[in-house]
Amino acid sequence: MNVDGKKYRTIWLAKDGESVEIIDQTKFPYAFEIAKLRTMEDAAHAIRVMQVRGAPLIGATAAYGVALAMRADSSDEALHHACSALLETRPTAVNLHWALDRARKVLIQVEPALRATAAFTLANDICDEDIGINMAIGMHGMELIAAISETKRKGEPVNILTHCNAGWLATVDWGTATAPVYMSHDGGIPVHVWVDETRPRNQGAFLTAWELGHHGVPHTVIVDNAGGHLMQHGEVDIVITGTDRTTATGDVCNKIGTYLKALAARDNNVPFYVALPSPTIDFSLSDGVREVPIEERDGKEVSQMTGRTDRGDIHTINIVAEGSPVANPAFDVTPARLVTGLITERGVLEPNRQSIAGAFPERVKMSA
Ligand code: MRU
Repeated sequence: MNVDGKKYRTIWLAKDGESVEIIDQTKFPYAFEIAKLRTMEDAAHAIRVMQVRGAPLIGATAAYGVALAMRADSSDEALHHACSALLETRPTAVNLHWALDRARKVLIQVEPALRATAAFTLANDICDEDIGINMAIGMHGMELIAAISETKRKGEPVNILTHCNAGWLATVDWGTATAPVYMSHDGGIPVHVWVDETRPRNQGAFLTAWELGHHGVPHTVIVDNAGGHLMQHGEVDIVITGTDRTTATGDVCNKIGTYLKALAARDNNVPFYVALPSPTIDFSLSDGVREVPIEERDGKEVSQMTGRTDRGDIHTINIVAEGSPVANPAFDVTPARLVTGLITERGVLEPNRQSIAGAFPERVKMSA
């Protein structure tokens, strides 16, 4: 997408052909900074500290991490070590497993002298595929938004609520939940996005708001607890979120708080859609609530907040009563029964095994 007139992806091979560059997402929304990844350890660190985040981008970064490892040492041992080390970085987004599995299977067949080149090619391919997938998601999702728009008065926007950041910053480009929004907006369909701030890390307030603002999409940031109230008052036409792992049965695991939005949407007859690229489907799982590993993050993300003062200084402050314990589960699971549909690159699917397997038969076979 464009940032101040310049086209960016979130990750790319640097001009030196040896290192990888990323947009450092820990600096948002106060600064737009590029960081360099020179080693596999740099890539693992970037994922762990969330310089890059979002399921598809985590997968793409891991693929580049393997490539950086292969440039340093292209032996079988180094390949296995890189895949294991990168897999440890974050537990929930299955795109990480998917990308590393793919890299390992492809590269082990390549003779070591050619592995680094093959690994960079694979990482580039994963990035290009991600963009193609997200554009297809955008086209399918735009049809849903267009259908709602037709029920409205001329010029009245379709109100879309989203949680966390499933925008272009969470992918290589376009985003998943935001691709239908950008395409609708660019195509002249009036839209307005309710952006959940998404405590504790504020991906909504820091990232989604930043990217929608830079693209000129009308939006309003709300506290996480406002969604239900807005739905009760007819202010939300559709919810579209992303997902970090979707089971074969259509349960979706996404940023903590997504489940509560789905419950509120059901109570208010608001359609609840989840946008996902097929690498986010984990065909080995059937019961999301019991089987998806939920990342437990540092309690400081809950007990502290970082922000910029009016003078421009950035400060971190404590916001919890001293001595009170905190818990920080980073994701939750929305059962398929609360999901209206899954917006994938192959169309809008019903959230059930038959529909998902029917759309991606080759993935079902691979996981069997
Ligand atoms: O902890 P994060 O910021 O990596 O969580 C990201 C999300 O929950 C996104 O909604 C999900 O990865 C989908 S991204 C297209």
